[in-house]
Amino acid sequence: MLIPTPEIGRRGFIASALASAGAVLLPHGIHAQQSLVPTPQQTAGPFYPVQFPEDIDNDLVQMRGVEAHASGVVTHVMGRVLGTDGKPIPNATVEIWQCDAHGRYLHPADAGKRPRDTAFQGYGRMTSGTDGAYQFRTIRPVAYPGRTPHIHFAVRTSSGRQLVTQMYVAGEPLNARDGLYARLRDPRQRHAVTVALTAANGIEPGALAGTFDLVLPT
Ligand SMILES: [Fe+2]
Repeated sequence: MLIPTPEIGRRGFIASALASAGAVLLPHGIHAQQSLVPTPQQTAGPFYPVQFPEDIDNDLVQMRGVEAHASGVVTHVMGRVLGTDGKPIPNATVEIWQCDAHGRYLHPADAGKRPRDTAFQGYGRMTSGTDGAYQFRTIRPVAYPGRTPHIHFAVRTSSGRQLVTQMYVAGEPLNARDGLYARLRDPRQRHAVTVALTAANGIEPGALAGTFDLVLPT
């Protein structure tokens, strides 16, 4: 199931995206763009799928042909693929992958003891729109041994530029003890990958939502 962009969320998203893009309205209505902080590159880790699930759309909670929903707290992650000049990057492939609510990845090398949640897609992809926008319906990331909750992201633009990074959850106590998070010593870089998840009002009852812009150097 492809997720339509909800109207209310989209309005809020555009407003926040403009704010985060540093758009400044000049007296004559001219927008001057400040330079954005590039999203820091982080390791893809060992669990990028070696075999994609049968369903690879942007709804990781509901797999095609599977009646059950994934366990976990449904979370909408949305944002835009942007250049550091603030301009949207359309037609970029955005991929995410993360462990399920039991801490298990869709990967044969994951030796976790708990059973996998077979209703969780584990991986999804979509193409950014003309405004650079993307959105995923997934679960709030959970911790697994040695890592704070995170979602892996990979972006590839139509001109072949790539960004591999990870998204973290604001206020998550385990962030302070995470080795990869600690490598981000510049507070602006931490800010760029740390997303506040709040009630997904107007999008889905009981779900969370957060905005994560993916910024590539221009
Ligand atoms: Fe991971």
